[in-house]
Amino acid sequence: MQALLLCGGDGTRLRPFTYTQPKSMLPLVNKPLLYYILESFAAAAVEKVVIILGPNGQVIEDLLTTEHPYGLKYEFVYQPEPLGLAHAVQVAGDALQYGPFLMYLGDNLLAEPLRPLIARFEEEKPDALVLLREVKNPQQFGVALLEKGKVVRVEEKPKVPRSNLALVGIYLFSAAIHQAVRRIKPSWRGELEITDAIQELIDQGKTVTSHRLSGWWKDTGSVMDLLEANKYFLKKITPRHDGEVKKSEISGPLVLGKGSQLKNCLIKGPVAIGAGCKISGSVLGPYLSVGDEVEIVNSRISNAIILPRGQIKELSLATGILGERVKVVGSGSKNKDSSLFLGADAVVKF
Ligand code: TTP
Repeated sequence: MQALLLCGGDGTRLRPFTYTQPKSMLPLVNKPLLYYILESFAAAAVEKVVIILGPNGQVIEDLLTTEHPYGLKYEFVYQPEPLGLAHAVQVAGDALQYGPFLMYLGDNLLAEPLRPLIARFEEEKPDALVLLREVKNPQQFGVALLEKGKVVRVEEKPKVPRSNLALVGIYLFSAAIHQAVRRIKPSWRGELEITDAIQELIDQGKTVTSHRLSGWWKDTGSVMDLLEANKYFLKKITPRHDGEVKKSEISGPLVLGKGSQLKNCLIKGPVAIGAGCKISGSVLGPYLSVGDEVEIVNSRISNAIILPRGQIKELSLATGILGERVKVVGSGSKNKDSSLFLGADAVVKF
């Protein structure tokens, strides 16, 4: 099985973080979001991954060609503009050799393994197998209507949804999708919608089946989704201390990277700290991940993602994401329980 992984898109809801890097590069427990997806591909014996990149995608190509993670074969296709998910399928046609593939949106995370889904697709040979999830707000998703187990209608963000079954951003397609994405027209929002291409398959009498997800699934479209996903993966960390701990108290799981120093700290795990960090006089966690080479002094931080090379002093942060190289000087307990979302290189003094 080959996969099409979509890492283009503007990621407008995740600004300012997506101004400096693609959404899929944002770290969850100090590992790019994209790596969790690639790991699940490797576990499902996917061999080749065609990756859709936007204009800022070079960083992903550089990383994967240097690191070659998970022993997968990577091919990169640049989509000049994010003209929709079905447009991404159009531009990837050649790379996919117009054959069947697993399509995966680069901001979706799934607990369920992909292998049984691929096996079912290969055995039953439908033209599409879509993943569905019951949601409370179907208006915000592509929505599917089922009859006798078959998908009979799909609609993108309907005002009056016909069901509460949302399409999750993971699909399996036969070669028929390559013609379907060429037959549809842009939607009212100017995008070539994958739901319209699926509807096109249905209208042609092709078989569209579904699988109802039960386990954890996250579409990391917003900062709060990102923090929730970070929390989910933090709960799974295995404690490991490769750094130096002085006069500190640790409860709950802690990962402390090489060359990092903790002094006079209280750690309430799960907390993950990268390499080369210097942290003193601080209360950290729960649910905190800190990238490499961050300095934290006299602060109190929980439920946050801190990207590499920041400098943080006297900050009391209850929720937040701090971009690369931020410099923040808080006002100690005066800004207690604040939430803060700062893009790369921001300098803030309270
Ligand atoms: P979306 O979440 O629909 O779009 P986005 O990532 O640009 O975010 P926002 O709505 O906040 O602006 O996209 C889902 C995934 O698909 C995401 O990983 C980006 C990718 N994508 C493409 O690769 N090409 C496209 O044309 C579009 C629309 C999305």
